[in-house]
Amino acid sequence: MTSEAFLEAMPLAALLIRRDERIEAANDKARQMLGRGLVGRHFITALRQPVVLDAVEAVMRDAQPREARYLTNDGQQDTTFRVSVKAVPGTGVLVSFEDETSLERAMQMRRDFVANVSHELKTPLTALISFIETLKGPAKEDPAARERFLGVMEAEAERMNRLIADLLSLSRVEAEERVRPTARLDLAKLVKSVALGLSRIAEDAGIEIVTELPESVEVRGDSDQLRQVLVNLTENALKYAGKGARVTIAVTRPGYEAPVRDEGVRIIVRDTGAGMDPVHLPRLTERFYRVDSHRSREKGGTGLGLAIVKHIVNRHRGRVRIDSTPGQGTEVQVILPR
Ligand SMILES: Nc1ncnc2c1ncn2[C@@H]1O[C@H](COP(=O)(O)OP(=O)(O)O)[C@@H](O)[C@H]1O
Ligand SMILES: [Mg+2]
Repeated sequence: MTSEAFLEAMPLAALLIRRDERIEAANDKARQMLGRGLVGRHFITALRQPVVLDAVEAVMRDAQPREARYLTNDGQQDTTFRVSVKAVPGTGVLVSFEDETSLERAMQMRRDFVANVSHELKTPLTALISFIETLKGPAKEDPAARERFLGVMEAEAERMNRLIADLLSLSRVEAEERVRPTARLDLAKLVKSVALGLSRIAEDAGIEIVTELPESVEVRGDSDQLRQVLVNLTENALKYAGKGARVTIAVTRPGYEAPVRDEGVRIIVRDTGAGMDPVHLPRLTERFYRVDSHRSREKGGTGLGLAIVKHIVNRHRGRVRIDSTPGQGTEVQVILPR
């Protein structure tokens, strides 16, 4: 077998360098990365990346395998490569390139997530510590101040509690995202129970919850999780719409005129509130993404509600659509497959 054919069978971009430092063979993936006409050239003119050149020279010297990493940018996005350089006895050196961009991106997301969680927990914790210090010192003998500070401390502790609960539920949902739910449930009944459960909060916010429901709608799904979807969406509407707004929870079944085949039930949570600038919509289901962090925190939000919704809907093989018009309101649709 020629070395060219051998390299072509490899899943990675690869090239073989002879001991006279010229390129003996390269596969198609390597040509796509480094350009055509590689064979016969000196490796220095083809590889260019200093870390890779160093590795090749070192392996030529002592035949010990080396690894290198480098980053390229094509003007649009970064690509991370891991390069493996190994001696091939009697021939020269094999250089192979692995695109590690998605791994790198996943690690970056994990780092961001940990940083976000730490920050979100640190803020209420810092407040708690400073109030405890005040209560131990200056406010020790002041019953009115004590009462007020304890109220604030309670609210901060509750915020931490909510954040932990949301984090746990997010990781639970993620863990079982591949397992499709099999139970059957009546969505109309579920919506009625959620609307009833939130009616006190709605009343306090001066908002009326209206439901538009068929008599019964059977779907396949996880009833606790779908309840959480309904609660998170309705709570958002109640929180961000503002006084006097109207919140509607509707469930529709496609008729024969259904525009998309294979489409099942739609859950729609709509409000006539402040809405938001559409630039935010694509990022809304990201963890900790908020349009107005201050407002969200003030309302007791964790920034995780819509991320949880998205994962639950993914597990149900459905889609989430969010539309919003500033000054008019927001509509979130959850479309579950038939
Ligand atoms: N019905 C709505 N009207 C206006 N803004 C909304 C609505 N629902 C969600 N948002 C925006 O989306 C953000 C993310 O929502 P979510 O993930 O539930 O986090 P949280 O409510 O804890 O901040 C909110 O902070 C808010 O800015
Ligand atoms: Mg929310």
